[in-house]
Amino acid sequence: MCGIVGYVGDKEAAPVLIKGLKRLEYRGYDSAGIAVLGRAGLEIRKSKGALKKLEERIAGELGEGALDGSMGIGHTRWATHGEPSDINSHPHTDVSGKIAVVHNGIIENHAKLKSRLIEHGADFRSETDTEVIAHLINFYYEGDILQAVIRAMKRLEGSYALGIICGNNPDRIIAVRKESPLVVGTGKGENLIASDVPALLEYTRDVYYLDDREIAVLYRDRIEFYNEEGERRLKESHHIKWDAAAAEKSGYEHFMIKEIHEQPKALRDTLRARIKTGDTNINLEEIGFDASWAKMERVIIAACGTAWHAGVIGKYAFEKFARVHTEAEIASEYRYRNPIFNPKDIFLIISQSGETADTLAAMRLAKKGGARIIAITNVVGSTLAREADLVMYTLAGPEIAVASTKAFTTQLMCIYLISLQLGRLRETIGDTELTDHIEALKRLPEQAERILSEKENIQRFASLQFNKSKVFYMGRLFDYAASLESALKLKEISYTHSEAFAAGELKHGPIALVDDTTLVTALCTQPALFDKMGSNIKEVKARFAATAVITYEDVDYFDKTADQVFRIPRTLDSLSPILTVIPCQLYAYYCSVLRGLDPDKPRNLAKSVTVE
Ligand code: F6R
Repeated sequence: MCGIVGYVGDKEAAPVLIKGLKRLEYRGYDSAGIAVLGRAGLEIRKSKGALKKLEERIAGELGEGALDGSMGIGHTRWATHGEPSDINSHPHTDVSGKIAVVHNGIIENHAKLKSRLIEHGADFRSETDTEVIAHLINFYYEGDILQAVIRAMKRLEGSYALGIICGNNPDRIIAVRKESPLVVGTGKGENLIASDVPALLEYTRDVYYLDDREIAVLYRDRIEFYNEEGERRLKESHHIKWDAAAAEKSGYEHFMIKEIHEQPKALRDTLRARIKTGDTNINLEEIGFDASWAKMERVIIAACGTAWHAGVIGKYAFEKFARVHTEAEIASEYRYRNPIFNPKDIFLIISQSGETADTLAAMRLAKKGGARIIAITNVVGSTLAREADLVMYTLAGPEIAVASTKAFTTQLMCIYLISLQLGRLRETIGDTELTDHIEALKRLPEQAERILSEKENIQRFASLQFNKSKVFYMGRLFDYAASLESALKLKEISYTHSEAFAAGELKHGPIALVDDTTLVTALCTQPALFDKMGSNIKEVKARFAATAVITYEDVDYFDKTADQVFRIPRTLDSLSPILTVIPCQLYAYYCSVLRGLDPDKPRNLAKSVTVE
């Protein structure tokens, strides 16, 4: 959701900025722009639509004397205030045209600020909240851009990551963030900013994660950090270990299918970090999950979207293994609900990006209420990781496709490890049951590989069904939770009307929707409930729906009932979502491609939802 880049160094800035913005395309955007500071002063180019349009617009100018500076900022915009248009695209400037700003986030008091600034002579051109920032900085500008930004920050309410350049201070970029992600990269004779690490990797692997309200001033040869009072701060850099190739398509047609295929490795890496080869002990002491957590009386899981679906599975897992009361909460609901806290609550927050606005708000609320916070996230140095009491990373590598796949299955792996370990500490799971589950977890990466090796079966099925107007997923217990995720995947990238039902709820309403235009896919991995699922499948068949079942390879129970049966390797019932979701991810992917869509960039969606 909005992408920011900035460059100061020896290279021509414009191509570096465009390249960086390309790396951030996955975040979702509807327009793009850059500002370059060079011999001709501050020059701005922006364009509604794909980055390619902007690229074409400036291609003819490069080398002709225009846009020839070695410092600049760039932005991909995901419209919040004002429609996608050239004029609303960033960068935005002040009246004098000397200060340019790119912004990710929302300025909540922009209307109030705007009318005050108009009284002081500001002339607004766009409908954006961002433009007030440029005018406000200009209002406070007395020759030192850093001081003007510090004064402006005190007036801004809401969330922001900002890249700012000023024609009167042409050797520096100011970067600042509050509740929106921004990373600073430091290279040799060049320094950069970006919303996310992939945009920096071509130039450096050494990065600084800005804290909330922290300011970085980037010069060609150094970076200075300040707090909001303007006091210098020392900061440690982090070295990014993952390969730049991890953020490339590596021969796959789309990031999504690449990331689906990366799941066996991602699962293996996430597991091996906590259970050494040949060992049967889960080692979570290293991340601080010690015996003290066993005394906690309740687990509250909060997350959004796919991560919330992982949380629903987490609810079942914590209750089963650790016999602890557990709730899975939608973060955007939770934050406004005046919830009841207890210092004996474990608050488990799940977020791939670690930057989702609602998820962070729920965490901060729980922290205030005295809960102990565990974060499961994929992004080292993210806000979530920095603010939680304890962090367990999913070692999935960068997830670029908007539709989450490997982040989800690795989140599940973390949930199983924590819930099993909590069960061991609380003595609610026996040694044999624990060992069986650990052995079963170890088999999952290879089992995921086997499912992927048979992906053609799913592709063939999708080629017959991709035009179905309604697709429903149903299941019970762990299968219901996996159905939620399967339905979301399909709707977000193929735009098919798709829903998930707890199979027992079918007769309480959803069956009214079932007719001969419907495909119902039943997830059936809970043997104690096979009879019930069999009846549900017959009920939808009697209403002329096409039916498919996903079940274990040694189960023939549904062969005569369903039109199509897909088989997955046998695992323990509570671990099955990691496997059942893979054919559903593949199905969603193939439907999207067969419908002529781009699964990596679904309409209206952004990878990281950093505003409400
Ligand atoms: C769906 C998807 C979203 C995210 C949700 C939370 O494929 O990716 O539903 O799961 O926006 O994002 P994170 O996990 O970054 O907090």
